[in-house]
Amino acid sequence: MREATQDAVSRVDEARLWQRHMEMAAIGAIPGNGVNRAAFSKEDIAARKRLIAWARALGLAVSVDAIGNLFLRREGLERDAPPVMTGSHMDSQPRGGRFDGIFGVLAGLEALEAIQAAGTKTRRAIELVAWCNEEGGRFAPCTMGSAAFTGARPLADFLDVKDNEGIPLRDALRETLAATPEAAPRAFATPVAAYVEAHIEQGPRLEMEGKTIGVVTGIQGLRWFNVEVFGETAHAGTTPLSVRRDALGEAVAIIRALHELGRGMDDSYRFTVGRMVVTPNSPNSVASHVLFSVDVRHPDPATIRRLGGAVEPTVRGAAARCAVKITPTLADDPCVFDQGIAGEIERAANALGIASMRMPSGASHDAMYLARICPTGMIFVPCERGISHNEAENARPEDLAAGARVLTATLLDLANR
Ligand code: GLV
Ligand code: MN
Ligand code: MN
Repeated sequence: MREATQDAVSRVDEARLWQRHMEMAAIGAIPGNGVNRAAFSKEDIAARKRLIAWARALGLAVSVDAIGNLFLRREGLERDAPPVMTGSHMDSQPRGGRFDGIFGVLAGLEALEAIQAAGTKTRRAIELVAWCNEEGGRFAPCTMGSAAFTGARPLADFLDVKDNEGIPLRDALRETLAATPEAAPRAFATPVAAYVEAHIEQGPRLEMEGKTIGVVTGIQGLRWFNVEVFGETAHAGTTPLSVRRDALGEAVAIIRALHELGRGMDDSYRFTVGRMVVTPNSPNSVASHVLFSVDVRHPDPATIRRLGGAVEPTVRGAAARCAVKITPTLADDPCVFDQGIAGEIERAANALGIASMRMPSGASHDAMYLARICPTGMIFVPCERGISHNEAENARPEDLAAGARVLTATLLDLANR
């Protein structure tokens, strides 16, 4: 490892990194040590302001694109050379934890602060990005920010999406952008030399194997749908079952039929209905409308395509008296990360004496879309018992710092190519 890299890595400050996690965790804190920081909420805005304040103290240039991805740039010697990017997201699940997403942002900031403190010059700029709406918990689907930035999806696909309160994304986005006027406007699809994202593993493997760094090989495929069931509201006490069009009763039958898709599937198969919006949602009224989400995942490309293709006919086949509408909201095949970047991460971990292993990701990440436009990799660190998307999500300060050190070394290497 070069002396300048060693110098920068030695300036990664475990206590500062942990303290920043705790400061961010206070924004949207919920009982049980968790975080609720929905995309484009007032908590999201507060987190953006906090990050911008830290970045400005380091002299980083701040910009934001039309979907609200926030970029913080440390200039390189060659201003026109495409930058190396790092980052993750600051939004959380409704009952999320203190580390999912925010670790990748704060590890990137820590790397930049360490590099700055060492006075290390790099050929390329290094950009830290906080991708907007990675979680999709408020506005579905997930990973919207990186999809729009990379051109995988047009911004127009997302502007009319509504949250559970009926608020359209375009309104929440407008308020979010207005809250940080100091951020310069930034175009989509600017060239990127390489992207490296740090994240907690969100599963138990690193902890079980006693390793500190996961060198991520790729991300499994997924399909998301919104399924709507249209019935008719009626009095629960007076309306005979034989004449009802009960949207909720029918939604339950449809979900049962969808569960049958998993019969005989291998252990990699994932199926989740995690969101349901019932109208009018009253104990003594038959439901007139139900919207529920479907999330199906599998690492094999042919299998995820087959499963995704089976959702609509299964829903239609199970619907009896109610009309249904099936809207696909996300269709991503499995992605395989760049071998060269994986090798760089592994070499950095080895040189720092940090135990690593290669592993695939079960969770989705913005890196999946970045992989379509530049060499991409991810660094995982352990989280306690693999618990995630849960208030109890936890990680150890020393593991977060180890991840930030490996990230610092990897970014410096890539920024000098
Ligand atoms: C991201 O949180 C995912 O759904 O995998
Ligand atoms: Mn995440
Ligand atoms: Mn998540």
